[in-house]
Amino acid sequence: MSKLFIPILLGTSRPKRHSHKVAKLIEERGKTIQDLQVQIIDPLDYNFPFDGNDEENKDPRYTQITAQADGFFIVTPEYNHSFPGTLKRMLDSELTNYIHKPVALAGVSDRIFGGVRAIESLLPALRELGLVPTFADLYFPEVQKLFDQQGTLTDASYKQRIDRAYEELIWMAKTLKYGRENNKSIYHTVKK
Ligand SMILES: Cc1cc2nc3c(=O)[nH]c(=O)nc-3n(C[C@H](O)[C@H](O)[C@H](O)COP(=O)(O)O)c2cc1C
Repeated sequence: MSKLFIPILLGTSRPKRHSHKVAKLIEERGKTIQDLQVQIIDPLDYNFPFDGNDEENKDPRYTQITAQADGFFIVTPEYNHSFPGTLKRMLDSELTNYIHKPVALAGVSDRIFGGVRAIESLLPALRELGLVPTFADLYFPEVQKLFDQQGTLTDASYKQRIDRAYEELIWMAKTLKYGRENNKSIYHTVKK
């Protein structure tokens, strides 16, 4: 079987963001898993002018990545009890490329809740996009204490939690891939 391709969507472009350390950690763990290909998608590397999904304002590289993806990992910080506009803009730019693909979620905050409200507020949008959220969410509270000056994880227990989230995501990715390939749905071809 070919490798499952899982883009890791980094949900913020904030210059001083801590979430990229979490995305990096999730990428590193993903690289240790056989049959998995992971890649951080940093909004700073892509071009998303204006809101919406008009063809001329898409970034073809993001279109290709989402088309090839077998599932997604989203890393989102919590901004005012929700998720950043940058993440919404990135997600909004595609329609059919997400349909019947799983998504694992990681919330990040500098306080005790670990981005739980960002994740909860994100779920309705993911569902509308046709994504299938897994139930093995990850929370990274007090992220400023989680990595030392060198960016090394200070609490090793997160590795096991990340691996479990991947386990569930991989199961869903394989199952939904089989479904997409063997049970055709009108939603795979028809644009909304
Ligand atoms: C605009 C803005 C709003 C924020 N709102 C919240 C919030 O509602 N709850 C919370 O726990 N942290 C909040 N934070 C703090 C973030 O949790 C903190 O910046 C953390 O490091 C994750 O975001 P980062 O990747 O941008 O660093 C907010 C940060 C910003 C920049």
